[in-house]
Order: sequence, then C-alpha cells, then structure tokens
Amino acid sequence: MTDPIGTALETGLETVLVVDFGAQYAQLIARRVREAHVYSEIVPHSVTAAEITARAASGRPVRGIVFSGGPASVHVDGAPSIDPAVYDLGIPIFGICYGAQLLARDLGGEVARTGRGEYGRTELTVAEDSGSAEGSASADSGSLLFTAAQPRTQPVWMSHFDTITVPPIGAVVVASTPDTPAAAFEDRAAGRYGVQFHPEVVHTPHGQEVLEHFLYDACGLSPSWTMSSIIETQVELIRAQVGSARAICGLSGGVDSAVAAALVHRAIGPQLTCVFVDTGLMRQGEGEQVVETFQRHQGIELIHVRAGERFFERLAGITEPEAKRKAIGELFIRVFEDSSGGIEDAEFLVQGTLYPDVIESGTKDAAKIKSHHNVGGLPDDMQFKLVEPLRALFKDEVRKVGTELGLPDEIVWRQPFPGPGLGVRIIGEVTPDKVAMLQHADAIVREEVKAAGLEREIWQAFAVLPDIRSVGVMGDERTYGHPIIIRAVTSEDAMTADWARLPYDLLERMSSRIINEVAGINRVAYDITSKPPGTIEWE
Ligand code: XMP
Repeated sequence: MTDPIGTALETGLETVLVVDFGAQYAQLIARRVREAHVYSEIVPHSVTAAEITARAASGRPVRGIVFSGGPASVHVDGAPSIDPAVYDLGIPIFGICYGAQLLARDLGGEVARTGRGEYGRTELTVAEDSGSAEGSASADSGSLLFTAAQPRTQPVWMSHFDTITVPPIGAVVVASTPDTPAAAFEDRAAGRYGVQFHPEVVHTPHGQEVLEHFLYDACGLSPSWTMSSIIETQVELIRAQVGSARAICGLSGGVDSAVAAALVHRAIGPQLTCVFVDTGLMRQGEGEQVVETFQRHQGIELIHVRAGERFFERLAGITEPEAKRKAIGELFIRVFEDSSGGIEDAEFLVQGTLYPDVIESGTKDAAKIKSHHNVGGLPDDMQFKLVEPLRALFKDEVRKVGTELGLPDEIVWRQPFPGPGLGVRIIGEVTPDKVAMLQHADAIVREEVKAAGLEREIWQAFAVLPDIRSVGVMGDERTYGHPIIIRAVTSEDAMTADWARLPYDLLERMSSRIINEVAGINRVAYDITSKPPGTIEWE
C-alpha cells in the first residue's frame, strides 16, 4: 500500500479509506471526504484486512471504508472483489454503485442483470418511514443517510447496468428509483451502507450530505482535518525529519514547489535554502516575481541563478522536440548541481510531489508521449534525502495551504507551466529574440484572459510561436512575419482537455493587441484541438 505520509510519526489521524474498484471517481470520492474535513486515502481493492488493521499501529486508525464504483459487473469472472475478512473488522462500510452491488452480492443480497441500465439524472424517493428527527441520526429508528432534513424526493446521478434487487441480509431499503428498488440500503447495527447512485458528483445535489451522514454519524468522525491542522502537523513532521540539518529546494515558480518551500520554511526557517534556476525560458516577469515573493516577502534564503545564456548556447541549432526537452532537462540538473554545491552540508531535498503522483506512480504504464522535466524530477543519485510535505494532498488543497501560508494569488493560482518552459512553445530553434517575442505575446494572452474574468475557469491559456512565416499587409506595406497561435484549454487534470470556447470579442482583443504590440507578428490563429488527439503543449 502506498503511504503518502511516509512516516509513522503522525498520531491520531483518523482515516477513511476509499477502496478503488477501477472507478473513474475514486479520486473525486477521496476529495469529497476531505471536503468534509476528514482525512482520506485511496487504496487498491487488493488491500487486506490485516493491512487495514496495521494502520492503527502507525497512529492512523481507519474509522470508515468507502467502496468506490467500478466498470465491471459483479457477475463476470474476475470481477474485482475485497478480502472477505474486511467485513469482520467492525469498521463501517459505505458502498457506492459497484461498491454497493458488491456489498449486496457478498452479504446475502441480490444483484440482477436486468438487461437495462440507468444512466444520468434520475429521481430518488426516500422511503416513507425513513429519516430521523431534526437532521440527526442519533434516533434509533429512521434512516441515517437520509435524515428528516433532506427532501423526500431528490435528483441523483446514476451510471450502472446491473441492479440491486435485494439488499444484504439485515439491511433495510431506505430509498428507491423507478428502475432500482434498492437504490439505498443500510444496516446500522452492522455498519453497512450502500447507494446505487453517485453521491460524489455535482449532479447529485444532496450527495455530500449523504456522505457526511456516513462519516459523522455512522463512523463517528468529526470534521477536524482542516488546512491549519494540516500545516501544523506537517510542520511538526518536517522538524522531526530534518532535525538541525540543512535542506535545499528547487523553485520553478510553479505552485507545488512554492508551497512546499513555504511550508518547509515555516518548519525549519533559515535551515532552508532555495535555488531558483532562471533558464531564460520563463514567462514574462516570472523570474522577478519568484525572487520578490520568496526572498523579500517570505524571507527565504534564495540563490538566484541567471542561466539564460547557458541555455541559449546549449539550444543553438536544436529543432527536434525530444532533443530540446532532453537538452533543457540535462542542463537544468547540471546548473542546479553547480549552484547547490555551494550549500556544503545540505542533507535534504524538498520536492512538491502531490498525492495524484503518489497514486499513479508505479501503476502507470502508459506509452511515453513526452519526456517530462520538472524540478521534482531531479535525479535520485543526487544523494539527498527527500522531504515531500505535500505527498498527501490534492492540487486544490495545496492551493489552500499556499494561501494560508501567505503566498500571493499570482503564485497560488498560477497555471501549470512545463519545466522546459517556452522552449517547447517555440517550434524550431530557440533563440533569445524568439523568446522575447513569445513572452510578449503570451503576456497579452494571459492579461486578456484575466481581464475577462476567465483565469480560474481555464486550465491553461498561452501563446505558441511556430516556425513559419506568412505574408500580410500593414499600413500599405507588405509584411512577412511570424504567426502566434493562441492555445486555451479547459481540463480537470491535464490527462484530457478541451479547447476553451473563448468569446469572439476576447479573441479579437488578443489578436489585435498581439499584432499591434509585438513586432514581427502579423497573424494570429486559435488552436481548436482537444486532447486527445492533440496534447496541450505543442512539443
Ligand atoms: P501535454 O502537453 O502532455 O501536457 O498535454 C500536459 C500538462 O503537463 C504540462 N507539461 C509539463 N509539466 N514538465 C512539467 O512539469 C514538463 O516537461 C511538461 N510538459 C508538459 C503541460 O503544461 C500540461 O499542463
């Protein structure tokens, strides 16, 4: 089992495990639990009862288990299942969709193959005698999941094929839909709950309440996992891990390394030194902003390495995308090593690894599309011990921690930016002139998106400089200049993305400003490719 905390020092961190049965939504469920201020982790369905019990010994007792949905049918051979001993642990279990069907199958209920699925929005009816008084489930009778405070009929979102017709032995049906007689069931004495619908999605407006009833009333948890408690806990853990040693952190200007650095600085103060390698391939004004934020405001010791010239020298004549990425990545490590060599006794390296990386590493065997480079990708043979204070957090949680630590919005809400920087947004050879042109156009794109109030809705918006020129006419003169391609996408996680439907007048403002303000550009195009088949970056 992966251990995002990575240490047994934590005590009393009551945990809810989300058992992943191959769901699209396992991460979303874990986030919803955390939004209820309860710490949650995702585990594969191969988790054993013994592993779950062992967590108590490391100070992180499991107080509740959620079975996620999944694409399989419980009737097919090899359908994902759970160690049966998990049912004997006395820990409350909440099954969602496939998870609920599994509970029914394993515990004496019935799951029918009706030959007819239920997809999308449907109306859920809570059973007549369900619902305990005053929104509290402390009463002995009535439903725990659906209290009297909840509407008797409510929209829910379904996505299933098989249907639970008989709940587990001992459980009572507390809600149904036209197609699913046992759409929600509970056995309060045994601590088993199941819903056929998806409480975690936004299309189920009362879903979070149902989940919270499970967490607070069935598991007896309290909403104590807050941003300030995360910071306090991490500060203690970092102090215990690092002691009086020195640590270094590579800053990229991105959110993750920034928050990791600020958190570690809160814990060990001047024992931390940050190294900021300015590759010359950053966005306009980014270098100064990193220095301003970390050195001046946060008071963090910062080594600012201006390495632009070395990068341009190294990139001369290189046009092939992978060759460019490799050259930038390798030189970055060399420059980082040279400059951090000055910090003789640094024993620890701070990295901004996030929880999705922890979940995915090892399980990902997807084909390599691009060789990624980022500060977190520094090689292991650098002989440092790692400090990864964000290993347990999702991106939105990292942003909240950053804000709580006093980082400015410009850093906390910064859009993702590739490690190789503008180097992969200039098609063909990278030169200082092209970088200056692209920086200027890119700044206009981002300024206009911000002015239109779309900054947080859009995953990334930026400019690309292709290696072609076209003919135009400006003030009766023939021009032969470069085009700029605007790329703006919406996405949840960068794995898939859609081109953003930017308003025409916004596109027009960008286009006319870029052509009027950036010398050498005479044409602007908008990229309307989703991912797949395209990628977000052009190289
Ligand atoms: P693609 O272009 O693969 O990008 O669709 C997906 C996301 O990853 C970012 N990206 C990178 N991030 N180092 C990074 O830290 C890299 O080498 C890198 N390449 C792409 C990209 O901006 C998008 O958000």
